[in-house]
Amino acid sequence: MHAPGRVNLIGEHTDDTGGLAVPMAIDRGITLTARPHAGMIELTSADEPGRLTLALPFEGDPSGVQPPWGSFVASMAQQLGASDGFSGTLESDIPAGAGLSSSAALECAIGRGLGFDGSALELAQTARRAEHAATGVPTGIMDQYCIAAATAGHATLIDCEELTVEHVPVPDEIDVVVRFIAHRTLLGSAYANRVAECARAESVIGPLRNATPDDVARIDDPIVRARARHVISENQRVRDFATALRAGDYITLGNLMIAGHASLRDDFATSTAQMDAAVDELNQRPGVFGARMTGGGFGGCLVALCEPGAISDGWVVRPSAGARVLPPDG
Ligand code: GLA
Repeated sequence: MHAPGRVNLIGEHTDDTGGLAVPMAIDRGITLTARPHAGMIELTSADEPGRLTLALPFEGDPSGVQPPWGSFVASMAQQLGASDGFSGTLESDIPAGAGLSSSAALECAIGRGLGFDGSALELAQTARRAEHAATGVPTGIMDQYCIAAATAGHATLIDCEELTVEHVPVPDEIDVVVRFIAHRTLLGSAYANRVAECARAESVIGPLRNATPDDVARIDDPIVRARARHVISENQRVRDFATALRAGDYITLGNLMIAGHASLRDDFATSTAQMDAAVDELNQRPGVFGARMTGGGFGGCLVALCEPGAISDGWVVRPSAGARVLPPDG
């Protein structure tokens, strides 16, 4: 079983108000190698300390399960009501806490490992519920849906209200580069605050998904107004990004990423001085179309689009297929 990580190309903090996003599953992820084990999950990780021993069905509070990565495993088993598990190992080449959705990858790998054979959307919805129960953070569906539904060679344009995915080809002639900057800090409470601020905006102007930049002026609170301005402008950037990606207009793609970062920094306030400086430095480099922070924020990774080879101090990532059973030879 393999589930990829994801890098969000654009559409940040739009999913929990039913907006749009263009994440891309990457050629790094989590691989689960396992054999059936009645009534139990026994799991070790090649990359993280600890061993998970979980009697099924699991009825406790997943957030308290040890080791910490085991909470996502237990939570997924609980969501699925699994009574038979497996013995196995996990291997990962996506760092945890870096904004590349290692937890969503783990949930999806475990879901398929436990034999869940529902649709990509059903897997994503189950994994999202598992994430909420494991972390208490009210995250959206983008990460799990991308990881469950992606096809090789494509980014996923997700409509988080309609729950549809459009697979948009990512041309070979550009590099998508991910650069790790810093482990995230403070994400949980800050994320929940942003969700609450967006809900306040919606109580004044209705669904942000349908709102226009003019509507924002009706919001009195300057912070809530700024949050709404980010979400509304970001949804438009996603539409423009998808159009430019289909047209191979890399200059426009880069400019949208730069504008998206500025909006996260100034209006959504999820960036940090360190992330801003790293984005600015990448954007100065020859051959870079545009760079931005990716994921929930307060650290994590940058994503950049550039001419092949223009950025050598990062991971060039390829658009990959979603969660899947690996052939027997690996
Ligand atoms: C985290 C959440 C997602 C999404 C992003 C921000 O990755 O899990 O649902 O909200 O942050 O775009």
